[in-house]
Amino acid sequence: REANVGLIGLGTMGSALALNIAEKGFNLAVTTLHPDRVDEFLTGAGELAENLIGAKSAEEMVAALTPPRSLILLVPAGPAVDAIVETYAPLLSPGDTIIDAGNANFHNTRKRAEELAARGLNFVGMGVSGGEEGARNGPSIMVGGAKESYVPLRPVIEAIAAKFEGDPCADWLGPDGAGHFVKTVHNGIEYADMQMIAEVYGLLRDGEGAAPTDVGTLFESWNAGKLNSFLMEISAEILQANDDATGKPVVDVIMDKAGQKGTGRWTVIEALSLGQSASTIEAAVGARGWSADREARATGENLFPGDAGKCEFDRTDLADALLAARIIAYAQGFQVLTAASEEYEWGIDMARVAEIWRAGCIIRSALLDDISDAFRSDLPDGRLLFAPAFHDALTKGTDAMRRIVSTAILQGLPVPAFSAALAWFDSMRQARGTTNMVQAQRDFFGAHSFERLDQPGSHHGPWAQKNS
Ligand code: 6PG
Repeated sequence: REANVGLIGLGTMGSALALNIAEKGFNLAVTTLHPDRVDEFLTGAGELAENLIGAKSAEEMVAALTPPRSLILLVPAGPAVDAIVETYAPLLSPGDTIIDAGNANFHNTRKRAEELAARGLNFVGMGVSGGEEGARNGPSIMVGGAKESYVPLRPVIEAIAAKFEGDPCADWLGPDGAGHFVKTVHNGIEYADMQMIAEVYGLLRDGEGAAPTDVGTLFESWNAGKLNSFLMEISAEILQANDDATGKPVVDVIMDKAGQKGTGRWTVIEALSLGQSASTIEAAVGARGWSADREARATGENLFPGDAGKCEFDRTDLADALLAARIIAYAQGFQVLTAASEEYEWGIDMARVAEIWRAGCIIRSALLDDISDAFRSDLPDGRLLFAPAFHDALTKGTDAMRRIVSTAILQGLPVPAFSAALAWFDSMRQARGTTNMVQAQRDFFGAHSFERLDQPGSHHGPWAQKNS
């Protein structure tokens, strides 16, 4: 018996993906960095073990696969990927493909693709979203690499992916690092959306003294409407869950210190490198960073105690503001994707990205169908932010956001992502900005020159002679 595909790494995501592949009827060879876990996994797989071949070494794995071989890696991003590539590359034959399905930095994927191409091997960077549940029952899959390497993979990937009205939420999006870049930006948007939901929770908790369950039922009602999304759904559930040990709402016993593995930060770094600023994502990454500084925050609270006064937030305003902020976060994410696609000549189809995010992934939401339609129609200046379909929601939602953000600010309640969303929106609807002043300053102290509104060319201000 030979396998169509091999999978290395039987951690949470690897195991779930392996069972998903086996369940769809493909023969899959599996191995892990700890070969003793292979038997354990096969036993736990039950009837699905019929489609699984356990390999205890790299040689066994390669021998179990029918060429051209496809080898999926689900191991922690970084050195583990390089180590496996080094072990397997000499054993593989030209035309074989290594698929990195972890959350890799796309720069590494580009490097690995180039190195392996020189050895006649394909390297595919594949973003997989949806957590453990998604990996087991249908994730969203973002593939990048040589287009021809997707041909043998496609039937497997489409079979295991989530479906939106029958359409597999998986596709080849571009060469080399395109798939991992799209996944990185997906995670960046995920950070922003999570932060915005957390900010609403914070306003209700600290501004109104609302109980978690009440916020949970509010979120549940929002999830039934235009704010419908996976993150809204789980937030509603989280807020209504009680801790087993204490019986308290579980959110009340969880430490306010957020972790991060890097994808949100990479989105921000890449955005800045591309001359963009995904400010809502940046706010979310920053908020996680500040959250880690827990002791200092306690000192700060003692030194600058907040106003204990309560305030109220209109529920419709909150919902409208959250929807507009979510549109803004997506618009910023897609702008980073557009800039990267141009820079690296990936030719990413933005409408298709939105389509494959409609199911399976963590940021799946009712908005994504409208976003893919928007990308397939004429967008003013090519900007998602200006899509006619979102005009009313943005007009209404940013008005609501002004009321929410100003109340929060007056009350001393931090809303970094909402504030960032509003600042960007207002900047993007101001034809005459204020960087004429910055240009003048640059010219004044550094003779950097500026462009004029009324004449072509580069110019200096009247201070030029005085300064010389
Ligand atoms: C997904 C998630 C997944 C994972 C991230 C979260 O799309 O399924 O984004 O990739 O949960 O690693 O990243 P942080 O640990 O940085 O929050």
